[in-house]
Amino acid sequence: MALDRYFTLGRSGLRVSPLALGTMTFGEDWGWGSDEKTSRRIFDAYLAAGGNFIDTADLYTGGHSEELVGKFVAETKSRDRVVIATKFSYNGEAGNPNAGGNGRKAMIRAVEGSLRRLRTDAIDLYLLHTWDRITPAEEVLETFDLLVAAGKIRHAGLSDVPAWYATQMAMLSRAQGRQRVVNLQLQYSLVERSIEREFVDLALEFGMGITSWSPLAMGLLTGRYRPEDADGGGRLHTLKSSGIAAISDKFTERNWAIVAALRRIAAEAGRSMSQVAIQWAARRPAIGAVIIGARTAEQLADNLAALDSPLADAQLAALDRVAALPMQFPYSFFAQDQQARIHGGVAVGDKPDGYAAPVRIAGQAAAGPGVAPAKG
Ligand SMILES: NC(=O)c1ccc[n+]([C@@H]2O[C@H](COP(=O)([O-])OP(=O)(O)OC[C@H]3O[C@@H](n4cnc5c(N)ncnc54)[C@H](OP(=O)(O)O)[C@@H]3O)[C@@H](O)[C@H]2O)c1
Repeated sequence: MALDRYFTLGRSGLRVSPLALGTMTFGEDWGWGSDEKTSRRIFDAYLAAGGNFIDTADLYTGGHSEELVGKFVAETKSRDRVVIATKFSYNGEAGNPNAGGNGRKAMIRAVEGSLRRLRTDAIDLYLLHTWDRITPAEEVLETFDLLVAAGKIRHAGLSDVPAWYATQMAMLSRAQGRQRVVNLQLQYSLVERSIEREFVDLALEFGMGITSWSPLAMGLLTGRYRPEDADGGGRLHTLKSSGIAAISDKFTERNWAIVAALRRIAAEAGRSMSQVAIQWAARRPAIGAVIIGARTAEQLADNLAALDSPLADAQLAALDRVAALPMQFPYSFFAQDQQARIHGGVAVGDKPDGYAAPVRIAGQAAAGPGVAPAKG
């Protein structure tokens, strides 16, 4: 699938490519990114492939990523063509609590800084980067409203928040007629599927498109790390040696099993492991776009071809199985066998258009004591 097929992001009129360009690697300020020349090659190749969706944040490489995006967009005169997403939450001045977080004072300070670095009058998609545990959802929504009215942002979204907080915001925005949250940006990959427990249904219910970050688990799913030689350099090692273990500690037994299955299926499909992992994420429910990351132009070229040829259903299903989420309460109570007990063996599912009668899953017996099998 080419990148110049544009899809609406959530329930909005904003049209975006199915693969967004992540720019957390723009700038070497964090010790593992790309210099300006390489970042520009990556940017140009993404645009040349038809891509229109650029993701950055005021946090990334200390503002350098936004500066490079602003510079490249200006030099290529592509401002009208590209959709720029950026984020606020992280603190920009030690000792000043209002230079970070999600309060109105911090949001307005942050938006002004991003507009300046991005050399633009308006941000197409403005995202709360992460929950600050204190700011009421009402204050964030009101400020999104103010920023849209002032012409500084076009659409609002949330990244890395609890599901209840996103739900609260969606309900408030409905009840109060405020800005709708049209995007949830969340970590999602074969090894990190936790969002399937709450966020996927939330996004479908409230019309939010999910954009998935770190679809390659920061490099783990490219196959560059192996269990017997897990110290081979790369970003995960740089992060780990800097003590940022929370996001870099991915060398687990479960993950190695997923990597092995991915390696096997990629070989069978004649695709790279990165392409298979990205396509798997892109084809999951509620995923509006996958945010691809690349440190080199070669990595980008590989990732851009991820949607070129469809994987077989059996290959996707095999990946699903090896990467299945462990059962956990209360979600275990919503599983199919429990549902059969609730619905008397009558399947719950989308009805075909104009067809009102419930449909029974073929061959599925009603479960549980005292439940008679439904008549088929
Ligand atoms: N909202 C959030 O909290 C959040 C958090 C993280 C990221 N993001 C966004 O999501 C974007 C993508 O995240 P990510 O960079 O972590 O994505 P990722 O795709 O999981 O990891 C990218 C890394 O994988 C390696 N890689 C990528 N393509 C490769 C290929 N074809 N072959 C071999 N290695 C390859 C490179 O690692 P090496 O450098 O080691 O070679 C690259 O730096 C970011 O740029 C950012 O825009 C958002």
